[in-house]
Amino acid sequence: MSTTTLPTPSDLTITPRDRKFQRGRLDQRLWHGGRIEATAIYNALSTTFPVGEAFFVESVRAFREGAPTKLAEEIKGFTTQEAIHSREHAAFNRRAADSGYDLTKLEAQVERRLAITRTKPPIVSLAATMALEHFTAILAHELLKDPRHLAEADKDAADLWLWHACEEIEHKGVAYDTWLHATRHWPRSKRWKVKAKVMLYVTRNFVVDRTAGALELMRQDGVTGLAAWSKLLWYLWIRPGMFRKIAVAWFKFFLPGFHPWNEDDRQLLREYEASAAATAAPAPRKKVRNAA
Ligand SMILES: [Fe+2]
Ligand SMILES: [Fe+2]
Repeated sequence: MSTTTLPTPSDLTITPRDRKFQRGRLDQRLWHGGRIEATAIYNALSTTFPVGEAFFVESVRAFREGAPTKLAEEIKGFTTQEAIHSREHAAFNRRAADSGYDLTKLEAQVERRLAITRTKPPIVSLAATMALEHFTAILAHELLKDPRHLAEADKDAADLWLWHACEEIEHKGVAYDTWLHATRHWPRSKRWKVKAKVMLYVTRNFVVDRTAGALELMRQDGVTGLAAWSKLLWYLWIRPGMFRKIAVAWFKFFLPGFHPWNEDDRQLLREYEASAAATAAPAPRKKVRNAA
């Protein structure tokens, strides 16, 4: 590790918040403010979580043997949080499907990508997880920082996304620290090359697949061609411009000495914990299942 690397804060605790969100019918198929493109991209993202986050858990667990005590504890918190995220997004996806969306194409695409990664050595899966966890952490940061992203959304759905975002920030260093531990005997140049290559690969797939997924869902709402592309690109890159806003944070991954906790953004967690979104439905903590 470079001397400029700031490690995960020593007083960080990873606390699974076992929230349960609504299971009934969505009040509105276009739950994101009645907007086709906003609903489509969030639904497309949500479709990836149940199997995607199970893959993260499996990839990190493969390297937990011999991890230092603190990291082993963090891995437990991480895997429990991700297992609960998978459960809640599976439920959310059923609600989207019940409102008429066919998600099968999108789900099949995620499975295809994961199947390819699983043919590679386990360290590649860990590297892909580390890269995607950086992605989710910077998306989460932006989602919590700027309330405009979810301002028009269905209240319970918005609460689900904010809760997920909060825990993504809390455990953002776990896959990275597991990677640092697993590759501790590698030369620094090899470590950087693999991590940079994997990040470029997963970014390309993430942008291409989520865009294709959102366009497919927009097609199911009758919007196609240039109209669909322009609505979606405007939403992602211009206003509110989530992809544009995370671009700098994404790039920092490649800098020497990068660590997810170089930016300590726990203030966003404290603000979230104090907000109505966190207190709307108290977590039934006694039912927390330890997935590790
Ligand atoms: Fe998650
Ligand atoms: Fe995560």
